[in-house]
Amino acid sequence: MPHKITKDLILETGSKMNNNWMPDSWRSKPIRQVPEYPDQAALEAVEAELRASPPLVFAGEARRLKSRLGDVSRGKAFLLQGGDCAESFEEFNADNIRDTFRVMLQMAVALTFAASCPVVKVGRIAGQFAKPRSANMETQGDEILPSYRGDIINGIDFNAKSRIPDPQRMMKAYNQSCSTLNLLRAFAQGGYANLHKVHQWNLDFVSGGEAVERYRDLTGRIDEALCFMKACGVNSSTQPHLNGTEFYTSHEALLLSYEEALTRVDSTTGDWYDTSGHMLWIGDRTRILGEAHVEFLSGIGNPLGLKVGPTTDLDDLIRIIDQLNPEDEAGRITLICRMGSDIIEDKLPPVIRRLKSEGRQVVWSSDPMHGNTIKSSTGYKTRPFERVLKEIQSFFAIHRSEGTYAGGVHFEMTGKNVTECTGGAEMITDEKLKDRYHTYCDPRLNANQSLELAFLIAESLKEERTAREKKQVAL
Ligand code: PEP
Ligand code: CO
Repeated sequence: MPHKITKDLILETGSKMNNNWMPDSWRSKPIRQVPEYPDQAALEAVEAELRASPPLVFAGEARRLKSRLGDVSRGKAFLLQGGDCAESFEEFNADNIRDTFRVMLQMAVALTFAASCPVVKVGRIAGQFAKPRSANMETQGDEILPSYRGDIINGIDFNAKSRIPDPQRMMKAYNQSCSTLNLLRAFAQGGYANLHKVHQWNLDFVSGGEAVERYRDLTGRIDEALCFMKACGVNSSTQPHLNGTEFYTSHEALLLSYEEALTRVDSTTGDWYDTSGHMLWIGDRTRILGEAHVEFLSGIGNPLGLKVGPTTDLDDLIRIIDQLNPEDEAGRITLICRMGSDIIEDKLPPVIRRLKSEGRQVVWSSDPMHGNTIKSSTGYKTRPFERVLKEIQSFFAIHRSEGTYAGGVHFEMTGKNVTECTGGAEMITDEKLKDRYHTYCDPRLNANQSLELAFLIAESLKEERTAREKKQVAL
């Protein structure tokens, strides 16, 4: 029987919400996965410049996302979170942003329509630059250099100069995030995401395939439904939300000097918000009680994600959740589970049972990418599509048998036709990986694989909802 940690106990031991929190209080805590900048004065100058720069998102938007995620935690909506493993300066252009946005919309439409369930769309975009690494150094041939830590920190080229952390990169990442967000806002609200244009999102889809055919069929049915609604007097002028969609941004809050500089007091509530993105998460390597990343996130009002990997200590997890969410607010915490398709059946149920027995509200989301990374026979880091799918299917099945709601998915994906993950309907083989392997970090699902997966998830979600509805009728 695990030791039960009550909220009162935490209050008594004084580790509840830290009243002395300030955006820089993380600086007095142990920290890992951060760069050592050789030039402190240059770092401080960039921090000051960022502090003087406008916020990227508003506190009210972050609160609205938290409330949408609250709906997810109550089983009333589904979370779709996805995008690049690592955004890069090199791949920054309007087409890439549009393609990622479009695939997310297509996936959301497939999920909404099949499962009659609102989908909360959150991109890993407009700030997803910093990467935690399993090794501090990288060896190529005889040469050993510091690891690449994402474009916001150092360069990917394997030479000593490019690997030196350069604070100016933070300004470049900030500016890129700003333009990306500007375009995303235009796409989401400026007409592109209008449901009547659902057909056009299909245009210039690189190659055909079953998912594309299914998408065409779906758009035909959506059109029919819209025509019917129009005949009944429901159209975009009576229902303006049909014209656009809500799209939120998220990234791992890893580089705390950057996050701190963008943390501001919200004038409406007087609370602190990190304005670098709507939702921030803590990675599996920095989710450590008493350390800097948990300290920083505990003081900001944004909705938060916590990656939960197979080595997670459950006592610590409860303590961390209580530090981040002492009032047990719905939508504040999303547990992004990334176990691995071969061990999820052993690893996930104890986490769910523990959260249930402690009575904490969370959104349960599945990241089927990070526990399923392997090296292909051709030497590329890859993720087999079947394993990604298997982890999600197990995630749904486990939640169903535990009586909890499988509320979301978290993917590394792109709208481009890359060849980074093997399998899927296109049957990408180990040999084909080299054709269009473009990622700066982990392998991503391509546009077709993402859509294929969305249709498969839609089926699980539909079964899930039908089962729950039947249960409610029986009660
Ligand atoms: C990531 O999401 O890119 C990542 C590094 O994940 P994790 O912290 O789960 O390994
Ligand atoms: Co990754």
